[in-house]
Amino acid sequence: MNRIIPVASGKGGVGKSFLTVNLGVTLARMGKTVILVDLDLGGSNLHTFLGIRNTQTGIGHYLNKQADSLESLVIPTDINKLYFIPGDGLFTGAAQQHYFQKMKIIKELPGLVADYILLDLGAGTSHNIVDYFIPFPQGIVVTVPETTAILNAYSFLKTALARSIFRSFPPHSEERALVQNFFKQRLEGSGSSLFTLADRLGEINPEYAEMVRDKLSVFYPGVIINMGRSVSDRNLGKNLRVISRKNLGISLQYLGYVEWMNGVSRSITSRKPYCLEHKDNLTSSLESICRRLDSLVPEKSIPLYEDDEDLDVLNWIQPPR
Ligand SMILES: Nc1ncnc2c1ncn2[C@@H]1O[C@H](COP(=O)(O)OP(=O)(O)O)[C@@H](O)[C@H]1O
Ligand SMILES: [Mg+2]
Repeated sequence: MNRIIPVASGKGGVGKSFLTVNLGVTLARMGKTVILVDLDLGGSNLHTFLGIRNTQTGIGHYLNKQADSLESLVIPTDINKLYFIPGDGLFTGAAQQHYFQKMKIIKELPGLVADYILLDLGAGTSHNIVDYFIPFPQGIVVTVPETTAILNAYSFLKTALARSIFRSFPPHSEERALVQNFFKQRLEGSGSSLFTLADRLGEINPEYAEMVRDKLSVFYPGVIINMGRSVSDRNLGKNLRVISRKNLGISLQYLGYVEWMNGVSRSITSRKPYCLEHKDNLTSSLESICRRLDSLVPEKSIPLYEDDEDLDVLNWIQPPR
């Protein structure tokens, strides 16, 4: 079975694409077969990091029904065992995706032959991003060591869980209304957590409480702190882990800390993955993150209702202050 790992962030420019490519290269060098998928539709640029010209068909074609399967879009890279599915570079405007289109992609991903499939997502909490994150319990959230970015990462996880719990109930149900009202209130510092929500749903039906608790227990994404510059930055990952456990009831894995390095921007200009040409603190962090990823046991994915109620989660979630 392949491991599907979406890479997301609350804030843009934190190094998702850089890390996706370099984690992919590191895993491939460890002997794993890896497929990188550029799902940052509207901002596809993963090919640049790989030094691949933007002439191949990709997800944009698939969404526009000009490709039959994801498998037909897989192209090799210069690196042994590393493969790539381009984004929508040749098909701008593919950023608008219907729920059923996303589901089609999500259902096809497990069928691709690889050990790891890394999904490079866009930044933020829009449905087109969150919906690729929720079904896979071991996604990665990337952040930089700045308070706003950390809070954005936390908000991202909270939004993902809100949407996931919301969608576990049928459209227009009493339970959905309860979930929605719950997330309208401020969770942080209130003493309540998503376990409180589970209990409230349990008052309607004890099975719902169990279902929400199960959902929280199988959702264990990881966080990477990128562009760190001081020793104190390392602790931010632990802080995020603590507030996620306390307020959201999930065990966030602190996958690692990656230093800010001068040579990164040069590697992007030269279109060669950084870790192919360097051996330093950054590449050894990537290696330990990959080893940690490899030691985590894959879990089952989280099922969701397949309707598309027109609802923007962000409208009813208060960002933490
Ligand atoms: N560890 C790092 N050290 C130095 N610069 C970095 C590091 N990680 C990323 N960058 C820089 O940050 C910029 C944004 O990275 P990118 O991967 O495009 O972010 P995102 O995909 O999150 O928008 C890149 O141009 C890259 O030069
Ligand atoms: Mg990117």
